[in-house]
Amino acid sequence: YGVPGTAKERTFIAVKPDGVQRGLVSDIIGRFERRGYKLVGLKLLVPSVALAKEHYADLSSKPFFAGLVDYMTNGKAPVVGMVWEGPAVIKQGRVMLGATDPKAAGPGTIRGDYCLSIGRNICHGSDSAESAEKEISLWFGGRGEVVSWASNNDEWV
Ligand code: TYD
Repeated sequence: YGVPGTAKERTFIAVKPDGVQRGLVSDIIGRFERRGYKLVGLKLLVPSVALAKEHYADLSSKPFFAGLVDYMTNGKAPVVGMVWEGPAVIKQGRVMLGATDPKAAGPGTIRGDYCLSIGRNICHGSDSAESAEKEISLWFGGRGEVVSWASNNDEWV
């Protein structure tokens, strides 16, 4: 799951179905690549209802939970799940996404640049070391699905 507080820190970032539908996958991947973060896990899938419910378990009592799970799982578009690695990637990933409510997200952030509605806010990023560990194991539980590799960025960025 990475080593929080080091260059091997890892986070789970996802392009949600609206982001895929709107053709923003390459932009979002590009922002993390250009920043100097390392892509160590990548998959495209329609998540099962069980996976989405577990992913958002903390929100299960919220009024928007059923709609959130349906939007993630109904298959109108898939989700792109990623694991990114690098210094402070959990915190900086959230900064790069912008505020949960896009109406409060600053320009230059993904949400601040591309969306307006909290229920269609394009992307997800782990909000703590604990969530990163939980989410990486949930979405990338299979053997070999997260790959450690040496990037030239380690030397130059
Ligand atoms: P949350 O975990 O609070 O935000 P974040 O995605 O920034 O970690 O909420 C998860 C998702 O639930 C959020 O991205 C969009 C959706 N959501 C709503 O649809 N309505 C709401 O009022 C909130 C708080 C979230």
